[in-house]
Amino acid sequence: MDKRWALVSVVLGLLVMAGPAMGKKEKMCDKGWECRGPSVYCCNATIMDLFQVYQFENLFSKRNAPVAHAIGFWDYQAFITAAALFEPLGFGTTGGKQMQMKEIAAFFGHVGSKTSCGYGVATGGPLAWGLCYNRELSPNQDYCAESYEYPCSPGALYHGRGALPVYWNTNYGVIGEGIKVDLLSHPEYLEQNATLAFQAAIWRWMTPMKKKQPSAHDVFVGNWKPTKNDTLSNRLPGFGATMNILYGDLACGQGFVDSMNNVISHYQQYLDLMGVGRQFSGDNLDCAEQLAFNPTGKTAST
Ligand SMILES: *[C@@H]1O[C@H](CO)[C@@H](O)[C@H](O)[C@H]1NC(C)=O
Ligand SMILES: *[C@@H]1O[C@H](CO)[C@@H](O)[C@H](O)[C@H]1NC(C)=O
Ligand SMILES: *[C@@H]1O[C@H](CO)[C@@H](O)[C@H](O)[C@H]1NC(C)=O
Repeated sequence: MDKRWALVSVVLGLLVMAGPAMGKKEKMCDKGWECRGPSVYCCNATIMDLFQVYQFENLFSKRNAPVAHAIGFWDYQAFITAAALFEPLGFGTTGGKQMQMKEIAAFFGHVGSKTSCGYGVATGGPLAWGLCYNRELSPNQDYCAESYEYPCSPGALYHGRGALPVYWNTNYGVIGEGIKVDLLSHPEYLEQNATLAFQAAIWRWMTPMKKKQPSAHDVFVGNWKPTKNDTLSNRLPGFGATMNILYGDLACGQGFVDSMNNVISHYQQYLDLMGVGRQFSGDNLDCAEQLAFNPTGKTAST
């Protein structure tokens, strides 16, 4: 009899002790400049702990080659400075070490693919040329759409710029509001300041484009539960859905097209280079059969 009571009280004692740690209570901690204040992600490893300068150099080994188009622009410190703003929100700090590294590889998979000047016979292979550009070189239109909310600023040009290239006044407007920098008046900032360029790209990765829709981050790290509609549209958690969110039907729902395959190839290359390995790419890697969250052209970058 006595023994049983003792057992019960031990169990209760454990529950009480485990309570606060298991709940969703925000942690307060201060782990250097990356993470100040309350956040459930604080105390977890930071991006700098898992992804160091030599890895950045491995991923983007050709970015300062003589034929590259943004020599000297992109660097590790700019990425880390920008990422630090989003680590308290879960960027690169969600899940355990493997998920954290995978998210960095996934984010950079998009960036590498969109800023590459690699082609079939390029030295080092076509996947070695990420961060070759920081802007669109020969825009063939002015990307100024009529908008009440984000009217084009006189003299400003809204061609592609940045790490996940931003096109159109409306997208510069939305993202500028998001990162609290007047990109509508100064779209050129994204080709002048690599920290801002990464900040804009990570904001895009972390932010749902519409109410009730997930962000690329959410679908990748497992924060998102597909609705019945999503399932009927073949939208499932994984890397594939990140392409759906960032490019919609420009990459998804078209079968195995280059625009999709190229992003996947970069992601997998980076998984290998970071030592995670492409065998951990995760389920639902492609979006070949997915219907777009937001059909036709209007989903920002590409
Ligand atoms: C922090 O890291 C641990 C293990 O490394 C992980 O289980 C946990 O989910 C992480 N915290 C958050 C909020 O993702
Ligand atoms: C680039 O942008 C960052 C973030 O807004 C800012 O702190 C920094 O001073 C800028 N650098 C330059 C050279 O303007
Ligand atoms: C589900 O999809 C149908 C048909 O595409 C649409 O009419 C409906 O509004 C969607 N429901 C939700 C909750 O999104």
